[in-house]
Amino acid sequence: MAQRPYIVGNWKMNGNRAMLSEARAIDRAAQRHMKTEVAIAPPYTLIHAVHREAEQIAVGAQDCHPGEEGAHTGDISATMLADAGAKFVILGHSERRTAHAESNELVREKAESVLAAGMRVIMCCGEDEKTRDAGKAEKFVLGQLRASLPEFQNAAEQLTVAYEPIWAIGTGKTATVEDIEAMHKAIRGLLVELFGEEQGGEVRILYGGSVKPENAREILGAAEVGGALVGGASLTADSFMGIALAA
Ligand code: G3P
Repeated sequence: MAQRPYIVGNWKMNGNRAMLSEARAIDRAAQRHMKTEVAIAPPYTLIHAVHREAEQIAVGAQDCHPGEEGAHTGDISATMLADAGAKFVILGHSERRTAHAESNELVREKAESVLAAGMRVIMCCGEDEKTRDAGKAEKFVLGQLRASLPEFQNAAEQLTVAYEPIWAIGTGKTATVEDIEAMHKAIRGLLVELFGEEQGGEVRILYGGSVKPENAREILGAAEVGGALVGGASLTADSFMGIALAA
């Protein structure tokens, strides 16, 4: 059975309690557009508050530590996030892979801890501009995914993949529909290889990178695009729901 389009807002390091009004507005709008699954990943400090108030949208986190508890000053475990109300965790985002030197192995360990805590994984992947210009984007992305994905009992339910070309994040540049379709088809092939036709065929593959209400219809209409992972345009209910409505 085909899954609903999935539109996820990654608030990154943005948002304070005043922004809960945007989360409320997103939640109210999502109740009127049930054909699309809507979720947001605010900073850690807002997860519990959004969880308490939201009736329709799911709340998730942007990262976690792979361990369960212990002497890890400043870190947050997957079980803590689940306790706060998180239903999913975004992992392997290029901003973490770059700024925190996260390896594929570490990302995979984190994914295992998210699954053990009963949450879903949004696994990010994407190439930089140099890799694309060298014609190696597909090989790079598939290698990154192969090394970052753990085993799943039910991949269709527990896993979402987000393809985010690094050069398109926050730059206003988006990949062409042809490039998005080619990469998503290649990712689909890998998912089917890893999880079988039934499970691998159902995992949603999101596109991320400068998605806005103005370009959402074209991107979301592309083959194998099951939704979007949205950064900047997810910070206001108007622009975020403009994207969700286009799905
Ligand atoms: O995770 C979302 C992302 O990195 C894309 O950000 O601001 O280009 O939509 P943005």
